[in-house]
Amino acid sequence: MVKIVFIEESGNRREIDAVIGDPLMYSAKDAGIEGIIAECGGSAMCATCHCYLLEAPEGSMPDVEVAEADTIEFNANQPRENSRLTCQIVVTEAMEGAVFQVATGR
Ligand code: FES
Repeated sequence: MVKIVFIEESGNRREIDAVIGDPLMYSAKDAGIEGIIAECGGSAMCATCHCYLLEAPEGSMPDVEVAEADTIEFNANQPRENSRLTCQIVVTEAMEGAVFQVATGR
């Protein structure tokens, strides 16, 4: 487990235990993070797991692959430079302390 912080749509700051080796979306859903819906179940198609990455230890985040980038561009509301789909981020120990803000405007 590693600690990951989510700032929910309402502004609540929540620290969750994320399971190493699983997509971050699973841990966010299990923790009941408000605004993480994950309609497609993690297939990088729905963008309802869309968050903004605010902070992360250097080099800890995987690169954005083409499928993730396309879904963010075409399906996500209010995409930004720091947009990520949490279903496409497999949790590693190096991510301890990363901070995500749940994207707004769904
Ligand atoms: S759960 Fe659908 S894009 Fe992440």
